Amino acid sequence: MPSVKKIHHVALATADMETALAFWRDALGMQVAERREAPQEAAEIAFLPLGESELELVQPTEADTGLAKFLQKRGPGMHHVCLEVDDLDGMLAQLREKGVELINETPRRGADGKRYAFIHPRSAGGVLVELYETP
Ligand code: CO
Repeated sequence: MPSVKKIHHVALATADMETALAFWRDALGMQVAERREAPQEAAEIAFLPLGESELELVQPTEADTGLAKFLQKRGPGMHHVCLEVDDLDGMLAQLREKGVELINETPRRGADGKRYAFIHPRSAGGVLVELYETP
C-alpha cells in the first residue's frame, strides 16, 4: 500500500522572486539551495531547505498559466503543499479509486528527474496538493 512519508515542501507563489528572497533569504537568513527555471511549469523556482522539508518559491514566467492566474486572483502567498510518497503510481491509483480528482492523471517529470503529480484542490479541501516520489 502506498504511503505518505513527510511534507516535502510548502510552495509560496510570488510575482517577483527578488522580493520573496529579500524576506526568506535576506531577512530570515534561510539558505537558497537551488534556483532554476522550470520550463514545463513556466515558472522560476527556488528551494530553501528547512530541516526535513523545504520552502519552494515559485514565480510564473508566462502570463496564461495556472500559477499566473492564481497570483492574479489571490495575490502572493501559499500555493501548494507537497507530500513525499514512496510509490507515486500506486498512490495515484488509490486516489482515483477513491474518486479524487487529479490534475495530472499521469506523473510528470521535473528537470531534476523527480516524478510528481498534482491533486485538484476541489478534492482536497481547497488546498492544491503535489505528490513527489523520491527514489
Ligand atoms: Co512544488
